[in-house]
Amino acid sequence: MLKEVIATRYITPLREGGSLPGLVEADDLRTYVMKFTGAGQGRKTLVAEVVCGELARRLGLRVPGLVTVGLDPVLGLGEPDEQVQELLKASGGTNLGMDFLPRALGFDALAHRVGPEEAGRIVWFDALVNNVDRSWRNPNMLVRDGELWLIDHGATMIWHHNWPGAQRFAERPYDASDHALAPFGPDVAAAAAELAPLVTEDLLAEVTAEVPDEWLADEPGFDTPDALRRAYAEPLLARAALIHERIQEAGK
Ligand SMILES: Nc1ncnc2c1ncn2[C@@H]1O[C@H](COP(=O)(O)OP(=O)(O)OP(=O)(O)O)[C@@H](O)[C@H]1O
Ligand SMILES: [Mg+2]
Repeated sequence: MLKEVIATRYITPLREGGSLPGLVEADDLRTYVMKFTGAGQGRKTLVAEVVCGELARRLGLRVPGLVTVGLDPVLGLGEPDEQVQELLKASGGTNLGMDFLPRALGFDALAHRVGPEEAGRIVWFDALVNNVDRSWRNPNMLVRDGELWLIDHGATMIWHHNWPGAQRFAERPYDASDHALAPFGPDVAAAAAELAPLVTEDLLAEVTAEVPDEWLADEPGFDTPDALRRAYAEPLLARAALIHERIQEAGK
């Protein structure tokens, strides 16, 4: 289970984010980047953030800590911005929070260097979860003190929008030609050799157990949140074994 906090103050929206994430202060006096259940993309985005974020962390990649944030919609009443007010009103209950990284800058391929090993691990991970949102246009990586942090895993595991076809989709290749780290010569073969054996049934059970039941309930075709947790694990397990041979890199 992720740590649970309660939002005590809405600080400001993060305008770059398409889903209008916001900065909030919580009852543990810490500041979190909050992603809302009431945002356009809905709760599946939040499930993807937890599954991929917690998996990446266990594979040794840097991801800000995740928590669940309880929200009383009353917090939105005093918001001058109508869009923010609507979002807070629609997001009562359990939302997602991630540790705010102060002083972090957005990744810029011209300003930061990344070694082929690290680039390989990140590209392999993105191929595993089919992340379509780490392109040079929108890298969704932050840099602080020379270290890369991965954020924004909402646009991954596209198969969770069509469960009957999920297992088949898992065999599809990953197009890495637009990947923000493609210019750094990612050593995907080394990453696969190191990381694929770590992606076991047990690890995926641990990762999916972190997703709150509230976001998994009432999915058509699944009787219980645990049945849906297993459905999240299966394509990832299958993909871990084969995806390194199906990564399409620029010029290959
Ligand atoms: N943990 C964090 N610490 C500091 N800044 C962050 C953090 N998470 C996100 N940000 C900032 O907020 C922006 C939006 O976050 P994020 O990309 O997760 O939102 P999104 O709505 O999913 O975005 P997108 O427009 O890519 O779909 C990031 O580009 C970054 O500048
Ligand atoms: Mg983003």
